[in-house]
Amino acid sequence: MAGSITVASVVGARPQFVKLAPIVKAMNDSDAIIHRIVHTGQHYDENMSASFFEQLALPPPDIDLGVGSGGHAEQTAAMLTKIEDYLLDACPDAVLVYGDTNSTLSATLAAAKIHIPVAHVEAGLRSFNRDMPEEINRLVADHCADRLYAPTPQALQNLAAENLAGRSVLSGDVMLDAILRNIELARSKSTALSDHGLEPGAFALATVHRPVNTTAEALQRLLQVFERTVERYLPVVLPVHPRTRAILDQLGYQPPEGLRLLEPLPYLDVITMIQAAAVVITDSGGVQKEAAFLQTPCLTLRDETEWTETVSIGVNKLVGEQGRDLLDAVSQFLESPGCFDEIARKKIEEHYGNGNAATVIVDDFVRWLS
Ligand code: UD1
Repeated sequence: MAGSITVASVVGARPQFVKLAPIVKAMNDSDAIIHRIVHTGQHYDENMSASFFEQLALPPPDIDLGVGSGGHAEQTAAMLTKIEDYLLDACPDAVLVYGDTNSTLSATLAAAKIHIPVAHVEAGLRSFNRDMPEEINRLVADHCADRLYAPTPQALQNLAAENLAGRSVLSGDVMLDAILRNIELARSKSTALSDHGLEPGAFALATVHRPVNTTAEALQRLLQVFERTVERYLPVVLPVHPRTRAILDQLGYQPPEGLRLLEPLPYLDVITMIQAAAVVITDSGGVQKEAAFLQTPCLTLRDETEWTETVSIGVNKLVGEQGRDLLDAVSQFLESPGCFDEIARKKIEEHYGNGNAATVIVDDFVRWLS
């Protein structure tokens, strides 16, 4: 049976490279699978793509479709066409998709329409906010895919509520696998803190990229809140996503001292900074979880989250789009930083698993396909 099933993983955006890494290892450990990596090219800058492949020790993609940026329809249409061409040519036995990006949507649709079995890693996440392009992508991917790997019991419940229980499996979270595998390496290799003159526990790490926070008006409001945070509490370090960078350039924004704008960081530097920060401020889904796994309190710049467990456990707080309630929350978290007690740590494990999600997924996948 050695190498008898060919599986194509389709990825394209930064968070997907992180989710892919533990799966690649588990695929390589399985005799049954020949694994191919298809990069859509959704993210293409060195520091949004290549640096992740390098730091996560990922093999280079078997093919890069080079789709690049564009409006949703344009980007998705280009991906659909190119992924379908690839699948018709390479004829994999199955396709794996990850998360909630336009790459996820396109690969799921392309494969489903030509009857190649598709499995979705990180299925069942719901914000219940259809204004988010990611929510539409998740709904389509979950309803079109044939096998659904839910990272948490809540995600499994969401799938059941949409009559998808029959194809769902509780797997645990592959992002926890990635953290557990890489945090020691990050501690020994990353020089991010000294490079940027940062003391552990003495700064906030912020990330902002969602459309709702990156219109010119929204971003201006958020920057004002960051400036107040710096004046009243502590320095804020903001690695800037390209979408956000474009708006900052358009605004000609000059940050005050204490608000540090950086280029997007490589993975080992990001997890080092998340662990060392006094508090994380973010609108990213992945960063909310990474903060929980690394025991740093998180303030989420949104009105709702898919990762509701982090909020109910008490290690994450929703502070609203554009940081509406950020200032009060920063002071609360800084005054009582002990939210990661024994009970919270146990609950995080109960919800997200023990770091072997990739093995659960690959074992199930091989059984299911056979
Ligand atoms: C995408 C995902 C989002 C994920 C995020 C992680 C969708 C709908 N959204 O959002 O779920 O959380 O990735 O970063 O798929 N750009 C560059 N260089 C790059 C990549 C992007 O300059 O390497 C710029 C382009 O101008 C592009 C903009 O960033 O128009 C946004 O990129 P896009 O891939 O459309 O979405 P993200 O905001 O990155």
